[in-house]
Amino acid sequence: MAKGSFHAAAKPLQVVQNGAEGENLLKARDSIHGTKCLIIEGEQRIRGDIRINGAKNAAVAILPASLLTERSVKVDNLPNITDIHKLVDIIAALGAKVNSPLKGQLCVDASAVNGFAPPANLVNQLRASYYLMGSLLGRFGQVEVPMPGGCDLGPRPIDQHIKGFTALGAKVELEHGVVKIKARKLRGAHIYLDVVSVGATINIMLAAVKAEGKTIIENAAKEPEIVDTANFLNAMGCQVVGAGTDVIKINGVKSLGEVEHKVIPDRIEAGTFMIAAAATCGEAQICDVIPKHLDPLSAKLKEVGTEVEVGPDWIQVRGKTKLLPSDVKTFPYPGFPTDLQPPVMVLLTRAQGTSMITENVFERRFRHVDELKKMGAQIKVEGRTAVIEGGHKLFGAPVKAMDLRGGAAFIIAGLKSEGKTILTGIEHIDRGYEDIVERFKKLSVSIERSLV
Ligand code: EPZ
Repeated sequence: MAKGSFHAAAKPLQVVQNGAEGENLLKARDSIHGTKCLIIEGEQRIRGDIRINGAKNAAVAILPASLLTERSVKVDNLPNITDIHKLVDIIAALGAKVNSPLKGQLCVDASAVNGFAPPANLVNQLRASYYLMGSLLGRFGQVEVPMPGGCDLGPRPIDQHIKGFTALGAKVELEHGVVKIKARKLRGAHIYLDVVSVGATINIMLAAVKAEGKTIIENAAKEPEIVDTANFLNAMGCQVVGAGTDVIKINGVKSLGEVEHKVIPDRIEAGTFMIAAAATCGEAQICDVIPKHLDPLSAKLKEVGTEVEVGPDWIQVRGKTKLLPSDVKTFPYPGFPTDLQPPVMVLLTRAQGTSMITENVFERRFRHVDELKKMGAQIKVEGRTAVIEGGHKLFGAPVKAMDLRGGAAFIIAGLKSEGKTILTGIEHIDRGYEDIVERFKKLSVSIERSLV
């Protein structure tokens, strides 16, 4: 089997042969390459069952975390998305051997990793590369990575990450846009986060697992992806207690072993399809989920009149013609997830009455509003609040995705509009939704990729 194709990196990549099935986890699928837009026919209803993939926001933490150990790492249920492909490029460029013997599976051998400065051209391509700070600092006591980029949701500082690293005894400098972190010895510390931050909570965990002594992270974020990362770390021999609560305690260990881990289901992907079914008055069974992770959305969908039935590992959603308006406030988990704010805004354009969305997590996460207004949505933004006047029909239009979840929202808007929608900026969508066209086709709606 041909070796997986990789971006050019600073040095030859250690790519091992891949299994027939596994090819796609090491590179973006040919079906994605070069496609410029999605063509979405309007007035379609979601119908059918869909199996949910592994959680992007757990996977992008777990892959960098695999560099902490010199023993073998096997991760299953990884989504086939470009963020994963980019992270594979980065850890391979550092000297790790990566292969993908089965679909959704990656095997990583980081024993030969000897670098702490991954190629900037690769790191710059995804925000989650900031997890390399915690993992390489934890492994080598040193790391140099460019300041992280990411979707434009407003300022995305890393001051809390740096606060944690400094507390653990590291010296942090910013030189010409590169974050340089060095610690002669990492020592456990008592860290009180000023802001509830998923990234900072995970990054500090990664740096602390091999620090000498005990670390306490207070005011920690409680997202399921943090719990999944902590479970991965504990499976390799770390001692992390309290993930999922706002106090995480870590006893540093000297050495780490091998680990096999299956990534939890992606609650944001699941929620996107749930909202699509509700918004198009369709019906869908969302399978292989952890229903508890979707409680805030299930509650909101019921509140606006959608039928939601919850099973042990599935959720059935039946859209209703009559939708009630609602107030949605995004908050860190277990609040309503900010990543489902753009899709739920599309749903509320169909409600009979005026709804309000307050975005409490990011400063500027309403960039999708202008594009939705092009489709006929009546929305007014005042600071962190958007007022949605429901009951107005949406019409297909040429719209552009500016970030991952906004892109998903436009697909839902296009499906429920009258007429055709041409959606560009789809590279954002391919970052976080595997095979989005094929997945919607499984739900009986037709979306086409186009090269022009
Ligand atoms: C993670 O981003 C997710 N990304 C985001 O998902 C998600 O929206 C976000 O958490 C909130 O749940 C990944 O996991 C890769 P934060 P992250 O640190 O870690 C402020 C998606 O679509 N803050 O919890 O960057 C920050 O500005 C993406 O999958 C500081 O002030 O989010 C924001 O306002 C989008 N200082 C708030 O905290 C810091 O040092 C929450 O950010 C760090 C964050």
